[in-house]
Amino acid sequence: MRHPVVMGNWKLNGSKEMVTNLLTGLDAALAGVEGVDVAVAPPAMYLDLAERLISQGKSNIILGAQNVDVNASGAFTGDISPEMLKDFGASHIIIGHSERREYHNESDEFVAKKFAFLKEHGLTPVLCIGESEAQNEAGETVAVCARQLDAVIKTQGVEALNGAIIAYEPIWAIGTGKAATAQQAQEIHAAIRAHIASFSEEVAKKVVIQYGGSVKAGNAAELFAMPDIDGALVGGAALDAEGFAAIAKAA
Ligand code: G3P
Repeated sequence: MRHPVVMGNWKLNGSKEMVTNLLTGLDAALAGVEGVDVAVAPPAMYLDLAERLISQGKSNIILGAQNVDVNASGAFTGDISPEMLKDFGASHIIIGHSERREYHNESDEFVAKKFAFLKEHGLTPVLCIGESEAQNEAGETVAVCARQLDAVIKTQGVEALNGAIIAYEPIWAIGTGKAATAQQAQEIHAAIRAHIASFSEEVAKKVVIQYGGSVKAGNAAELFAMPDIDGALVGGAALDAEGFAAIAKAA
């Protein structure tokens, strides 16, 4: 019923050469892969090149981005607007990543504002939520995820989640090689879905919830076999065309 989405978050990695090699390799490696949406989020600087490469390829790679700002135009030095992202064909936009929450002090409310802004411009928010190691150890995982989601639900209504993607990324699993086990992840995904269902069962049933945090070809199939895990947001392993395509195939 839910269509899995596997998305590569390239973070602050790239050069013209690297983007060209990775997207060309990915296009070839994804030949014949069906039943999964595959997206990539290169650094904004490379959206133009990525859009051109994707349009020349055969696979239907979806173009995404790693961030958006909350102003449409004007005197906001360094900002990127939703319309600029659309101009380069980027549709799936990551917001609320723990790295932005931590290094750029982005609050739940600010992330919710970005969410609303993306929806207003017809873009797909990929809303990252997840707990730190300390919060995990204190048993606060579900409460943290619920709080991060509620910033959107309580200001925009639960229906705002229709068509959006949620990425559950436990911070302790990001880039550490220490992924949540499929059972651990399933338990939290089910709790996240149950929290959404407490507002609307219909929305909860339909919303795509990706898992992120040390996903690789070796653990993807096990994660995707879980009923509430609908794909992945992949960091490090998305920088290798073959490895990333293997994750997409597992979905
Ligand atoms: O957004 C993806 C991410 O934070 C996970 O990174 O390197 O653990 O796959 P990684």
